[in-house]
Amino acid sequence: MKIDVITIFPEYFSPLRVSVLGKAAERGLIEFAVHDLRTWAHDVHKSVDDTPFGGGPGMVMSPVPWGEALDAVLGPLSPDTRLVVPSPAGVPFRQETAATYSRMAQIVFACGRYEGIDARFAEDARTRVPVDKVSVGDYVLSGGEPAVLVMIDAICRLLPGVLGNAASAPDDSFGAGGGPMAGLLEGPVFTRPRVWRGREVPAVLLSGDHAAIARWRRDEALRRTAALRPDLMAMLPPGTLDGRDREVLHEAGFPIPGEDMAH
Ligand code: 6GU
Repeated sequence: MKIDVITIFPEYFSPLRVSVLGKAAERGLIEFAVHDLRTWAHDVHKSVDDTPFGGGPGMVMSPVPWGEALDAVLGPLSPDTRLVVPSPAGVPFRQETAATYSRMAQIVFACGRYEGIDARFAEDARTRVPVDKVSVGDYVLSGGEPAVLVMIDAICRLLPGVLGNAASAPDDSFGAGGGPMAGLLEGPVFTRPRVWRGREVPAVLLSGDHAAIARWRRDEALRRTAALRPDLMAMLPPGTLDGRDREVLHEAGFPIPGEDMAH
């Protein structure tokens, strides 16, 4: 997979050389290219922004350098290419979004600053490539750069060979692998020592009973998800919860998704 980032702050992306993603790039599993938008600025000041038509505060990024930058960076036209424009006004970036993007041949991230990019840039780009405006959460960042780092991490760890242990992705919170924990938050984890400051590791984890351990982990995931993320509970596909799941939720005092409160 090829990932291009266009930004006025190329240094922001040095973390891509670190850790899991850095190793994946070294091994050729991912190709990162970070481009300075000012390469396509034409005046001596290398300016890329201007005052907004219609008035108002702040500055708007000019479509002129953005259009040329995209022309230079966009590879062969393919249904497996996306232009992603980070914006707090975009559609939510979710685990499924990361999974979809991980199957692309090329993703171009266009990081806006100031009050955003002139709207004609995305309109023009859309004639050549699917364009997604994407938000990483309901809060405002000063620019798209940190959001793009987050998205790149979530996408790349799903690429074959990027994670050391191939089994670690499916059991994550949100379990995009569609495994037994799909749609739930991960529960607590433990390691040695067995007793630490008087606190014992739950006995079931030492039992060697793999079915009981899996069941306990699911119980914990259900309780945590119901407590912290009722929105995720409501999104579970119908038929996800078995009899024991319902019992766990009921005992913990949580509503059962899809069941009338009157019952
Ligand atoms: Cl993608 N960009 C900015 N600037 N702020 C955000 C965001 C993106 N997602 C949430 N807040």
